[in-house]
Amino acid sequence: MLAVLHASQLVTLSGPARARSGTELTELGIIADGGLLVQEGRISRFGKSAEIERLCQPDTEIIDAHDCVVVPGFVDAHTHFVFAGNRLDDFEARARGESYEQIAQRGGGIRTTVAATRAIGEDELFLQAKKHAAWMLRNGTTTAEAKSGYGLTVEDELKILRVIRRVGAETPLQTIGTFLGAHAIPDGFHQDRDGYLAQVVGEMVPRVAREKLAEYCDVFCERGYFDIDQSRRVLKAAKQHGLKLRMHVDQLTNSGGAKLAAELSATTADHLEQTGQDGIAELMAGKVQPVLLPGSVYALGAKKYPNARAMIDAGLAVVLATDFNPGSSPTVAMPMILSLAVTQMKMGPAEAISAATINAAASLDRASQIGSLDPGKRADFLICNCRDYRELAYWFGFTLVRDVFVRGKRVTNFAG
Ligand code: NIG
Ligand code: FE
Repeated sequence: MLAVLHASQLVTLSGPARARSGTELTELGIIADGGLLVQEGRISRFGKSAEIERLCQPDTEIIDAHDCVVVPGFVDAHTHFVFAGNRLDDFEARARGESYEQIAQRGGGIRTTVAATRAIGEDELFLQAKKHAAWMLRNGTTTAEAKSGYGLTVEDELKILRVIRRVGAETPLQTIGTFLGAHAIPDGFHQDRDGYLAQVVGEMVPRVAREKLAEYCDVFCERGYFDIDQSRRVLKAAKQHGLKLRMHVDQLTNSGGAKLAAELSATTADHLEQTGQDGIAELMAGKVQPVLLPGSVYALGAKKYPNARAMIDAGLAVVLATDFNPGSSPTVAMPMILSLAVTQMKMGPAEAISAATINAAASLDRASQIGSLDPGKRADFLICNCRDYRELAYWFGFTLVRDVFVRGKRVTNFAG
């Protein structure tokens, strides 16, 4: 048994095991001088520290959290953390004024990472991914969704998805796999886009489903990548094979992706920088959760963040995620995302924390297991070096996370 005592604020997010919207987003269920009891990797109780202390046995391990905030582990609902290499040349080219799209058109961009990822074997890719998992854990992420999409052949896509699964099995980070074969058109298919789509639909989706390598299927629905009709074809096939849907939409241009997400009853529509009121209304009608990724807006040096306030006002259960990838969002740090949400998107700190925990968990169909400190849930939580939860979004560019617990075990120093 493990007890955490004397947290300045125990941020429980206690409440229904579903996504929160409207004013619910501001209700964090904070207990001053709070305590937490953990048994067999699960939360068994929370309450005032004195109350929890009374339940301790002589052999209970006590963790002192005075002058600290305790929160559920972050759930990062949109990442591309399995990749090889980096995109330093793109990074430098953007500083010289080239855009993400221009770089992609002259052969840089996603293609660079695809070449690097194809070039290494599964074990080497796993070692890279393990390093990224260690970065995530150190910054407070205890569950991460992860997409393929840097393979773009049957074997390379499956290789990435197996690595995602292996990270979940062999490191403390819980992973949830998403198949993103429709991330870009690979070399050799630019004159035969339909040929590549046929491979995605006819070979990749069935294999991914048969081998149970992913729970979700995603598509990069964007000018120059996959248009609405092509995206629909992939996602419909995925649905028929039992995969749930997430989508990259309206990031660089508004192509009506939000509407397609609603039409297909996708679980999430992600990015949404260019989505207007009509798209927001479609998401609401289709019960689609928006996943907002301000790290990519920041790192691309773009100006337009998604309209989080309009989405919250419309009643949408917003999620925040890193979009961790080497091209458009080289960060694993959910605290940095909280900062961007508050400073650039005018979300309240409490709204941002709900979006990064319980709402993210709900978007991955895991609201009954993670995302709050309610009894029965996995004991995934963080002890942070601050006394007020708002500090988690206020200080930026470094981590306040002091200790990370997964299933009640301290994993702060997990070495990738
Ligand atoms: O979410 N938009 C597409 N995919 C990633 C970027 C991938 C890359 O540039 O490597 C994104 O921003
Ligand atoms: Fe992405």
